[in-house]
Amino acid sequence: MVTREQILEVLSGFYDGGYHQPAVELGLIRDIMIKGSRVALTYVLTEEGANTALYKHEMEEALRSIGVMEPHIRFRPITEYEREALEKKLGVNRPVQGSSSPTAAETGDEVHGGRKAAGSLLDPTSQTRFLAVASGKGGVGKSTVTVNLAVALARMGRKVGIIDADIYGFSVPDMMGIEERPVAEGDKIIPVERFGVKVISMGFFVEDNAPIIWRGPMLGKMLQNFFQEVEWGELDYLLLDLPPGTGDVALDVHQMLPGSQEIIVTTPHATAAFVAARAGAMALHTGHGIVGIVENMSHYVNRLGEVEYVFGRGGGAKLAEELHTELLAQIPLGAPDNAPADPDFSPSVYKSDTETGRLYDRLAEQVASKLETV
Ligand SMILES: Nc1ncnc2c1ncn2[C@@H]1O[C@H](COP(=O)(O)OP(=O)(O)OP(=O)(O)O)[C@@H](O)[C@H]1O
Ligand SMILES: [Mg+2]
Repeated sequence: MVTREQILEVLSGFYDGGYHQPAVELGLIRDIMIKGSRVALTYVLTEEGANTALYKHEMEEALRSIGVMEPHIRFRPITEYEREALEKKLGVNRPVQGSSSPTAAETGDEVHGGRKAAGSLLDPTSQTRFLAVASGKGGVGKSTVTVNLAVALARMGRKVGIIDADIYGFSVPDMMGIEERPVAEGDKIIPVERFGVKVISMGFFVEDNAPIIWRGPMLGKMLQNFFQEVEWGELDYLLLDLPPGTGDVALDVHQMLPGSQEIIVTTPHATAAFVAARAGAMALHTGHGIVGIVENMSHYVNRLGEVEYVFGRGGGAKLAEELHTELLAQIPLGAPDNAPADPDFSPSVYKSDTETGRLYDRLAEQVASKLETV
């Protein structure tokens, strides 16, 4: 089976038409998925009118030369945020005429994404912001919110990872439509990347949906591994999808990440908000800041365009008031309109050009503006 490194290596000669630099170094090759001899990846286009047919042909040929039987290249235009981030980076690194700025190879920087490989995420000097998504009870949409907030932050050009910390009830891989497994390289595990987000989940290590029968201490150890044994690279955000309630794993996460911030998810029902307040109280108790509340399944817009409050009203606002924080978003009921035949299929990710996708983009902007000013 080919490795991610081999793929980046064979594509390293491809120059981006917009910036005339190697696309790999600019971090324009994304979402590399390897499944046996099948490889899918996304090429982020920086120029209008790029000859995608030619790119596709040339890249597929290159991939075939290293034994990829079924290469699948997707294209998407660079977002405004990604362009800003890229130009900022180029502004810093671009060699001034006559100067001899070292190349990535000379400095030993990690080439992919053009940034230095990070040390441990738990290192006190780590720049990564941790964001745990919690709730008082199950089924309110923590995992859905985690996944969509992560994808929206990635759309904004942030480097994002998800730890599916719901060790027993993992759901993130399925929700994102991830079919492949992470690969090990040396003594590190390379997380799976999907929609620009790096993901690690217990689901990757369990055969055929077998139940997990470990006890508390093992769970804590597994979480430690997710931080320490996984090659995350440099991340701006690491989101943690917590199991429901205030049990063992939630407590482990709270203790492991003293600097974490939290988002609390609730439904609009008054009792749900009451239960969610306990998760909020626990966050405050362990010194975690609360970024805000997301009210999920907030309402339903019927075919006539009328708003129906299927699960009651006001829970999110009440909870925000109780926890002295903000109601950041109200997400309506409705599944993503994705077709399984679509190569970008995922059961739970709302695309950016949908109403709910836009709500998640706005949520991501709020989260970034709250966390990146501190
Ligand atoms: N806004 C929504 N509209 C429709 N369905 C939704 C919405 N949000 C979540 N769901 C669905 O509700 C179910 C529960 O959501 P999800 O798994 O995200 O909740 P959870 O809080 O993570 O659950 P658990 O506590 O079991 O981990 C899923 O089937 C999900 O697809
Ligand atoms: Mg969940």
